[in-house]
Amino acid sequence: ERPYNCLLVIFGGTGDLARRKLYPALFNLFVDGFLPPALRVIAVGRRNFTQDSFRQEILLPSLQTFSRRASDLDAHFEPFATRLHYFRTDIYDPEGYTRLGRFLVELEEAADCQGNRIFYLAVAPDHFGPVVRSLKETGLVPARGWQRVVIEKPFGHDLPSAAELNRQLRAAFSEVEIYRIDHYLGKEMIQNIMVIRFANTFFEPVWNNKYIDHVQITSAETVGVEDRGGYYDRAGALRDMVQNHLLQLVTLVAMEPPASLATEAVRDEKVKVLRSLRPLDAAAVNRNVIRGQYGAGEIDRQTVPPYRREKEVAPDSTTETFVALKLFIENFRWAGVPFYLRTGKRLPVKVTEIILQFKSLPDILYFKEYGELRPNLLVIRVQPLEGVYVQLNAKRPGNNNYIVPIRLDFCQNCEVGVNSPEAYERLLYDVMRGDPTLFTRWDEVEAAWQFVDPIAAAWMARPPLFPNYAAGQWGPPAAQELLIRDGRHWWQEDELLPERG
Ligand code: BG6
Repeated sequence: ERPYNCLLVIFGGTGDLARRKLYPALFNLFVDGFLPPALRVIAVGRRNFTQDSFRQEILLPSLQTFSRRASDLDAHFEPFATRLHYFRTDIYDPEGYTRLGRFLVELEEAADCQGNRIFYLAVAPDHFGPVVRSLKETGLVPARGWQRVVIEKPFGHDLPSAAELNRQLRAAFSEVEIYRIDHYLGKEMIQNIMVIRFANTFFEPVWNNKYIDHVQITSAETVGVEDRGGYYDRAGALRDMVQNHLLQLVTLVAMEPPASLATEAVRDEKVKVLRSLRPLDAAAVNRNVIRGQYGAGEIDRQTVPPYRREKEVAPDSTTETFVALKLFIENFRWAGVPFYLRTGKRLPVKVTEIILQFKSLPDILYFKEYGELRPNLLVIRVQPLEGVYVQLNAKRPGNNNYIVPIRLDFCQNCEVGVNSPEAYERLLYDVMRGDPTLFTRWDEVEAAWQFVDPIAAAWMARPPLFPNYAAGQWGPPAAQELLIRDGRHWWQEDELLPERG
């Protein structure tokens, strides 16, 4: 199904997200022939650009730096750029919306857009509500054709603020017109989770508490907070990563097979997982949720400053830059299987992966003297390597019966020339064709906050002793302890990497 012709209005059209992600994604789609023929993009910004200076100072550098198709710029930049229009206004100026409305109508008359409109709010979350209200009050919505609104994260700061934001959105858009971004859902390997599970006979039957010992989900970054200290210091890793990306990964790993691949069927199964999470009271938070904040340390042999000295971060900040936690899903499939999650900034490597560790067999046939039986693992590598890895035990060739772990390893982006689409390409494509499956429905957001809010509340009641890990370490020692006391450990990268020569 091809995307429909429409206008795409980007609020925050000169901002970071638009430059890093949205224009490059649109350009890649354009080069690959995935944009609707009459699409026009309207970049709304406050700064004073002409069409030409916008192209030269914003658009071109954005594509040169961030597009995986930058080598196609010579051939495709001109035709692409003619579809983009810069529109200058302040998002708090009502008259600006009236002018914008007239401009949209002009474009709709000139191009065959059938009155379809997408509004992409690539602005700070404080502006989501006011922009939507103005769209409605000034008559930019309802559109003549269909209308959609795309909302970036964070969707609220806690459950009450998320509910309030949702109320504001619902005053102008219906639930099916609201596309809440969780860009992890646009990643290739995350879409692959359902395929791996439901298209392979040898996984689905063992995908439960009879065979799986536990699940580990890691999303680690080496970067610090970069230029986002102002936002991050108010959010922290729990709200920035766990409430959305990590819990979404949990839903995809844990959900029941949906009745069909229809959007609501998939979302129904995901929300059931969130509703089955065992709630954490303050005592459980203290035991099973570990928070950390980085101090000075080394990343790639470079000394880096502590979090409290990052730009726009309070010098005595108690914001966490690391979270590790253990959760349980209380349903028939997963009862008793711990899910360990961890995420953080300034960790030793950039990696996102999901590891399912299978239960060990009794050591009856293969006595210790033949080597240590390693557990079977299924590793889904999300990034930077994309692929699937299975660890098995096998006999080492020779006259003894030694057992060694072997790996079946599929890496889809290790070969040169493989260039997976970026998350935002798929997400923008889906907004244009009206498929919200990879976006979060309100009840998912709600259930995720219901799980996360008690953690934040328990933390508020107990000031942390920060910093508690040096940049370049895997969080505070308590994060290791969390598994060690259960007789387990986090699998480290060097244990899982493909064997070399
Ligand atoms: C964002 C967070 O949602 O995800 C950032 O706000 C984080 O803090 C980013 O760096 C990580 O995304 P990715 O795609 O690099 O894993």
